[in-house]
Amino acid sequence: MKKITKRILFIGTIVFLLMQLYQPSRNEGSKKEMTESFVRVYTVPENIKTVLRTSCYDCHSNNTYYPWYSNIQPIRFFMDSHIEKGKKDLNFDEFGNYSKRKQKSKLDGIVKQIKSDEMPLSSYTLIHKEAILTTAQKKEVIYWMNKIKDSISL
Ligand code: HEC
Repeated sequence: MKKITKRILFIGTIVFLLMQLYQPSRNEGSKKEMTESFVRVYTVPENIKTVLRTSCYDCHSNNTYYPWYSNIQPIRFFMDSHIEKGKKDLNFDEFGNYSKRKQKSKLDGIVKQIKSDEMPLSSYTLIHKEAILTTAQKKEVIYWMNKIKDSISL
């Protein structure tokens, strides 16, 4: 191996190892469903709950499931940025704290994101195949979310 290649590999390894020292705190709140949780605010059928838990909660709730590789940087860094942005936009565990108007617009957003296949994020479904919604699941979620949206009177 050329000297320069060796040096680059060596520096790369050091940088990689140093990055591992950065282990930020986890998104792990109370495991209980609080009164402001989406599933307590609305009577959510089991099939819808399952979809939300499997496909959305890792980024849109106060509890993320951390697989082993989440401890490796820069994977964790990438995950954290999605969780942070995702929760800011929509947090199912704090849904009850949203105003009626905001709830309605979030429900509309959920329908739009699912219809356009934008959620769950493709970088997520690449690894989490189980998070991909079937056509039937998409239909069920869209139908149910629209029904709840229409039931909210402003
Ligand atoms: C891997 C993380 C991740 C998963 C899983 C995920 N989202 Fe998202 N979601 C995000 C991020 C990040 C954003 C912020 C916008 C963006 O970067 O595209 C977002 C934005 C949204 C928005 C936009 C909010 C608004 O104000 O319009 C909705 C709605 C949404 N997601 C719904 C869902 C639903 C429903 C699921 C499950 C079927 C889901 N997401 C799964 C990360 C995720």
